[in-house]
Amino acid sequence: MNLNLNNVSLRISAGFPSQFPRDPIPQIAFSGRSNVGKSSLINTLLGRKSLARVSGTPGKTVTINFYEVDKELFLVDLPGYGFAKRTESEKQKWSLLTNGYFTDNPNINRLKLVIQLIDSRVGPTKDDRDMLRFLRESSLRHIVVATKNDKLNATQRNHFIHAIESDEDMSGTDCIILASSVTNEGKDDIWNCILTCSGLKT
Ligand code: GTP
Ligand code: MG
Repeated sequence: MNLNLNNVSLRISAGFPSQFPRDPIPQIAFSGRSNVGKSSLINTLLGRKSLARVSGTPGKTVTINFYEVDKELFLVDLPGYGFAKRTESEKQKWSLLTNGYFTDNPNINRLKLVIQLIDSRVGPTKDDRDMLRFLRESSLRHIVVATKNDKLNATQRNHFIHAIESDEDMSGTDCIILASSVTNEGKDDIWNCILTCSGLKT
């Protein structure tokens, strides 16, 4: 199927689980720590500069943003974790929303793939490992996308690939894709996974 990427909009910036859309179309979620590049990757995939908000003050807006793509698919921008400066009430909101999405969601069967982002320069953090474990134990289909790959030189890149491929916490991952929102590296491979998992591939 050819999705019309001119027909894309932010359906809702949900602050509460009751606001999650119930349309019977597949959802692809983007998970990762704050500042890892989730919103940037969504913009890259959609060929837009600033549809998904890339914030200068990471982690401040705790919402789940649903981008509707050609009425066929939702790209779901989850709030980042691991943001130290969050207030107690922002942390509570994060838990309410994330639990509402992953564990207490009557529409969870519409979630076809979680794209777990990891910063290539940092490697998997403890929070990333906890998330990967959660995804594996919940049998949620997921891939790992290593972001900001443009910031690595060839040696660092090889080192990163080697480390991540032999990492036990990657064992539940369908594949690992190196990506950059600056060079568009990885874009086609990620789309391929999205369309395959959503059943939209012809
Ligand atoms: P939260 O919304 O706070 O959870 O962050 P996020 O994961 O959505 O990150 P965001 O897309 O806002 O990007 C954070 C910062 O990283 C921004 O300054 C981006 O410009 C930068 N960035 C994102 N992706 C890349 C990339 O592939 N390469 C480089 N060099 N910078 C990137
Ligand atoms: Mg963001």
